[in-house]
Amino acid sequence: MIRALSVASEAYPLVKTGGLADVVGALPDALAPHGVATTTLLPGYAAVLAHVGEARVVHRWGDLLGVEARLLAGTLGDRPLLVLDAPRLFARDGGPYADARGRDWPDNWRRFAALSRAAAEVARGAAGDRAFDLLHAHDWQAGLAPAYLRFAPEPHRVKSVATIHNIAFQGSFDAGVFGELGLPPHAWGIEGVEYYGNLGLLKAGLWAADAITTVSPTYAGEIRRPAFGMGLEGLISSRGARVTGILNGIDPAVWNPATDPLLAAPYTADSLDARRANTRAVEQRFGLSGEGPIFTVVSRLTWQKGMDVLAGLLDELVAMGGRLAMLGSGDAALEQAFRAAAERHPGRIGVQIGYDEPLSHLLQGGADAILIPSRFEPCGLTQLYGLAYGCVPVVARTGGLADTVIDANVAALDAGVATGVQFDGVTPDALRGAIARTVALYRDRDRWRQIQGRGMAANFSWRNSGAKYAALYRALLG
Ligand code: ADP
Ligand code: GLC
Repeated sequence: MIRALSVASEAYPLVKTGGLADVVGALPDALAPHGVATTTLLPGYAAVLAHVGEARVVHRWGDLLGVEARLLAGTLGDRPLLVLDAPRLFARDGGPYADARGRDWPDNWRRFAALSRAAAEVARGAAGDRAFDLLHAHDWQAGLAPAYLRFAPEPHRVKSVATIHNIAFQGSFDAGVFGELGLPPHAWGIEGVEYYGNLGLLKAGLWAADAITTVSPTYAGEIRRPAFGMGLEGLISSRGARVTGILNGIDPAVWNPATDPLLAAPYTADSLDARRANTRAVEQRFGLSGEGPIFTVVSRLTWQKGMDVLAGLLDELVAMGGRLAMLGSGDAALEQAFRAAAERHPGRIGVQIGYDEPLSHLLQGGADAILIPSRFEPCGLTQLYGLAYGCVPVVARTGGLADTVIDANVAALDAGVATGVQFDGVTPDALRGAIARTVALYRDRDRWRQIQGRGMAANFSWRNSGAKYAALYRALLG
């Protein structure tokens, strides 16, 4: 049995701002059948502390990057959870990375360096327990953990994997804080944690880890190029074969239309008529009336997601006979653009600004198609949920979207393998064309059902991906 410590700043259902949480939450169960026992380590945000309650204290730090901290042991589902309880760093109102007004916490470097340092020490056996075989660090927030392992004062055998969920978020901070990290002076440099004159947390992890993964094969190739690597393409390329893409999966305990308690009515591919009750519920929640396919958006409203391009096409979407039920939050200007479109098109466009996990399930279960015009998408989970729920994904051909959706072109339709609609380049013309194509496909009811059924039959369970991570761990451990 391999003992792995998975360290991240989010895990569903305790803390979630995006897909990272879904993946970190699902990984332990995905790995267990392949002989990997995973313990998850999270920061002690209020919601996490509330979850573990009166937990056992398994370690204490008098001075972890200048603050007192305790390590608490609890469980996440059936799996072991460790929590870094450092009130001065994590017990705050607001989000995991920013205050209630959206301003990044100024001490984010200290918060996540502390998490990473704790992770490296725990992996090496600090918590009294036997050391872990392997540390799996997710995204920039855990990026320093492999570096702390590499610069550890005593020899150890712990291997490390760094997983990039989004290379756009790099955790770059002022060089002046380096002295407080407790790393040896020679860690400051290209062979270390320095990145273009700054402290680079993600860069540190990518440099130090024994292996790097990202969340789809296509994205693993894309980030070798400047347009996607966002400055890290050189480092990624130089690590060559050590960078692999392993697709995210779906957690069947959370996302299954046959058993989902958050739906108005459960259904399967054989009972798609039952899905209509969910469509009615979506119409009601979003004030939609009339006929025509209901497009949905469940997304952060940001440039990455191409939401500016979609916002510019909403009048045309309605003119083509479509309707829209939008759930999202993010850039204020985008929120405003969607709200204004809803005011212009009552009954055809409904908008809910905010984050609403239950509503996201209802939308997948009731809308006809989900729009995902991302400029880049490391994996993307909402298209996978869409496939599983018969909510046909309409996606830009990039990253994990390219890897998981089969475009309904003539050949794929004839062969009966199409699962969605893809388009090239996030431009108004390309997206307009994709929406038009979707509306036309929707009107051909037999075809549409075939596409829905194909998507629902597609297998994006964690089974395959769990096996790939386990094989990678084994290869590293020799
Ligand atoms: P990313 O992590 O880049 O935001 P993903 O598609 O990987 O994109 O994951 C997004 C996750 O967040 C999905 O689980 C999706 O359902 C959820 N999500 C995004 N926006 C919202 C929202 N406004 N309300 C509820 N869930 C949301
Ligand atoms: C990131 C990416 C998204 C991916 C998720 C989980 O948030 O933007 O594409 O699905 O991480 O890996």
